[in-house]
Amino acid sequence: PYVIAEPCVDVMDKSCIEECPVDCIYEGARMLYIHPDECVDCGACEPVCPVEAIFFDDDVPEEWNGYITGNADFFVDLGSPGGAAKVGRTENDPPSIKNLTPMNQ
Ligand code: F3S
Ligand code: F3S
Repeated sequence: PYVIAEPCVDVMDKSCIEECPVDCIYEGARMLYIHPDECVDCGACEPVCPVEAIFFDDDVPEEWNGYITGNADFFVDLGSPGGAAKVGRTENDPPSIKNLTPMNQ
């Protein structure tokens, strides 16, 4: 699947949401997360992110590899809702992301 990495933290531009044909990009408190099982790898979200936060999982830069797990961990409690719009914003950010120092300076 595709993965959202650190540049999204505290930016949350959300242009990606409008491109996703399966509505699998979910909103947390600090960033957005792609559901690893719901993403159909269409790749439509990747070029529209203004801060280049979205990568195919094999192409995530090494320093952001933790975001592959981070995207999956966001859904431990949510499961597979089958659409982000009806879920809305949640505070399910994994601790490793929730506890990052603010980046929106
Ligand atoms: Fe984040 Fe980029 Fe989407 S900043 S919300 S991944 S458009
Ligand atoms: Fe959606 Fe991007 Fe996957 S547009 S289907 S999250 S590659």
